[in-house]
Amino acid sequence: MKFLDAEFVQGFIRMAKDGWEQGWHERNGGNLSYRVKPEEVVSVEENFEKKEWQPIGTFVPKLAGEYFLVTGSGKFFRNVAIKPEDSICMIELDGSGENYRIVWGLVNGGRPTSELPSHLMNHEVKKNATNGKYRVIYHAHPANIIALTFVMPLNDTVFTRELWEMATECPVVFPSGIGVVPWMVPGGKEIAVATSKLMERYDVAVWAHHGLFAAGEDFDLTFGLMHTVEKSAEILVKVLSMDQGKRQTIKVQEFRDLAKAFGVELPEEFLYEKLYVKKD
Ligand code: 13P
Ligand code: ZN
Repeated sequence: MKFLDAEFVQGFIRMAKDGWEQGWHERNGGNLSYRVKPEEVVSVEENFEKKEWQPIGTFVPKLAGEYFLVTGSGKFFRNVAIKPEDSICMIELDGSGENYRIVWGLVNGGRPTSELPSHLMNHEVKKNATNGKYRVIYHAHPANIIALTFVMPLNDTVFTRELWEMATECPVVFPSGIGVVPWMVPGGKEIAVATSKLMERYDVAVWAHHGLFAAGEDFDLTFGLMHTVEKSAEILVKVLSMDQGKRQTIKVQEFRDLAKAFGVELPEEFLYEKLYVKKD
């Protein structure tokens, strides 16, 4: 099969296009990776042209021998659908989980995203935690969630609770909550370690003053998670901009009722009582 005809490649391209259309990927902002299934690798391997091994910059032994479809560093999401062979690549990891090589794509040169260490460390954590179910890691730069990192305390508890309150289905979509990484230099092992630690518990992690990482089973669920968090952040930005304070919100007991009705577990630590001052 031609590489670009494969369903997983088409799904990847569609997600990049959707992200661009949402306005989350200025210039080369953001990156996407997909852990390819063994049967999908077989279906496209006739197209492979294997390049030299390169260091990943971190160590992911539990992903040894796996293949990933990833966006290229410095490549624009806007161009993924138009010239995929120039914008994305498929890589193979070696048996130690320390090196990768390009097997398809980036035909005009280049390398996988500079956030490859974060993507792969998150994949390793999620593969382990979900028995191999999670396959997608997505990093974007949505404006509202980034704006909140300038005005809200940078902690998991407050971010989770405030975003849960902004749209009734949020606790159902991300019941384990949301993690927050303080500002760090992007593109290296240190931020990858901090993010993957949060991914042991959460499916979403905010990078202060930078963006958001989301993890999920497939393209739809991962895109939907990014979309839900950013929508919730947008509502919160609007509410805060009104400068009235909240007149009403979803109450602690109502979160418990919601959890019961939808069969999800919401950790009690996020369900603290708050004092409201109504400004009339
Ligand atoms: P890349 O172009 O290397 O993927 O970097 C974009 C980005 O968002 C860095 O955090
Ligand atoms: Zn980024």
